Amino acid sequence: MCGITGYIGREEAIFVLLDSLKKLEYRGYDSTGIAILHEGTLTVRKAKGHITVLEEKLKNEQIRGQAGIGHTRWATHGEPSDINAHPHTGVSDRIAVVHNGIIENYLRLKEWLQAREVVFKSETDTEVVAHLIDYYYRQGSGLLTAVQHTLKRLEGSYALAITAADYPDRIIAARKDSPLVIGLGKDENLVASDIPALLAHTREVVYMEDGELVVLYRDHVELMNAQGDHIVRPPSHVDWDADAAEKGGFAHFMLKEIHDQAKALSDTLRPRIKTGEISFDEFDFDEFCGRARRIVITACGTAWHAAMVAKYAFEHFARIPVEVDIASEYRYRSPVTEENDLFIVISQSGETADTLAAMRLAKKGGNRILAITNVVGSTLAREADLVLFTMAGPEIAVASTKAFTTQLMCLYLLALKLGKLHSRIGDAEYRACIEDLGRIPSQAEKILARQDLIQRFASRQFNKQKVFFMGRQFDYAISLESALKLKEISYTHSEAFAAGELKHGPIALVDKDTLVVTIATQTVLFDKLISNIRETSARGASSLVISWEGETSFESVADEIFAIPKTRDCFSPLLSIIPAQLFAYYCSIQRGNNPDKPRNLAKSVTVE
Ligand code: AGP
Repeated sequence: MCGITGYIGREEAIFVLLDSLKKLEYRGYDSTGIAILHEGTLTVRKAKGHITVLEEKLKNEQIRGQAGIGHTRWATHGEPSDINAHPHTGVSDRIAVVHNGIIENYLRLKEWLQAREVVFKSETDTEVVAHLIDYYYRQGSGLLTAVQHTLKRLEGSYALAITAADYPDRIIAARKDSPLVIGLGKDENLVASDIPALLAHTREVVYMEDGELVVLYRDHVELMNAQGDHIVRPPSHVDWDADAAEKGGFAHFMLKEIHDQAKALSDTLRPRIKTGEISFDEFDFDEFCGRARRIVITACGTAWHAAMVAKYAFEHFARIPVEVDIASEYRYRSPVTEENDLFIVISQSGETADTLAAMRLAKKGGNRILAITNVVGSTLAREADLVLFTMAGPEIAVASTKAFTTQLMCLYLLALKLGKLHSRIGDAEYRACIEDLGRIPSQAEKILARQDLIQRFASRQFNKQKVFFMGRQFDYAISLESALKLKEISYTHSEAFAAGELKHGPIALVDKDTLVVTIATQTVLFDKLISNIRETSARGASSLVISWEGETSFESVADEIFAIPKTRDCFSPLLSIIPAQLFAYYCSIQRGNNPDKPRNLAKSVTVE
């Protein structure tokens, strides 16, 4: 998730763009860049690191010009570096492009361009866009036509802003599956990924729709659809304050990130599905994973819970033994490693000290390492043999939400692909699973649309002294993650139990001050769970059950039921965690806490 911005007007663009980029930093912050147009010249400056690094670089330069584009990057293809930073330019260096999104067919386009003697400078997917526009432009198309030809060839998602030295009076922008907003000013017009970047100049905005393109001039804008037909859309007035705007109108980053999940899941899944098949551009899956006779997964906190889900998924789809361990435990064991073990490490930040230590130990033991992380260029990404990136975009809130569900998506894809490779899953079943995964983002949206139910439930229950989560198998893993979320941000004493373990001890804690949340999505185990719920209710506990839409089994035992859209039982973690995240969030609010910055916790635990 990167931030893009564009300006054309009466002010010096360099200052406007740098200010706008600062407002978009929550969208990405591993590198920054600008391109300024002035009297037939295009000046591009970019730098790895925080925006202040770029500012420092520009300090002794006088870059004049009243139009330009800017970018703040969250790397997806290629590590953070000056070269990979945007804007990217074509062969002639007279066309510059900034991009947010993922060009899924960039490798094919790159080959096509290389066959036409185009030389690439960066490792990014974006550079193909700059070269394609440049290519059509050099072939004689006008700038607008060159952009339109290019857009037709792009697969994936994009918000693009484009400038050309030969067209200093305009900026072009286009969107598909990535947000883009036009800001209408007086004698100036802007475009940006998000509202905060516009607010210093205007509150009159036009939200672009998928497939639309806009040409911004200083005194007017021309909005058009994919066919080039002009569109007139009245502007909307924004009355959010700047702080709310940065959070996309949500009260906290955590709530925003919970809501980001539908898109993040889709961004993580879509580029890896090609003609109904799971395909990883990142590596030769058969070669790297095919030899695995055992999988060992290690991680900390939420990422460890993702590993717990993965254990069930790998065993279910691929029938391969899986060992899961907490990284801080693994690193001090004397683990027995086998030559054909596949070692998977999961970490949102890619910088967690214990996780890195566990990975280094496994590497020393001769294991091949596959890392799943959200941060390109992180230590984990650099040291692992292979990396699968989650496409969650930057996660700001300390409590991890979208990083978790996107980790799950990556792990499900690996498990399914391995099952297919070892013929443990039939072709029809495999394809049906992929289709079901494709429906998950819209099913997540449906849950999010009913967040008020959870909010009301939290307002009745936030004062409970103890909240226990229970479930079996996949639901046990989600119980662990649900309890962690709640304790992290609401400071409520919460624990998770494998439901079958209840009678082996934890039931001694259950009384009328206890809320028991049961995650109930494993249909064959419903009867067992019903007995477990009865045991807790008999001791005065109140109960919430999270289960499938249309499921009636729990009506007679639960005080409240929250229904989630039906998918395969084994995919339920992708959905069942969302109401639990919302519950934790609203309990935190009710208790007067700041969910984004919980006490005693840091986003990235880089020390032991
Ligand atoms: C999650 O909400 C936590 N803040 C924490 O448990 C986190 O998942 C853990 O520290 C691991 O972080 P990582 O994914 O960056 O390695």
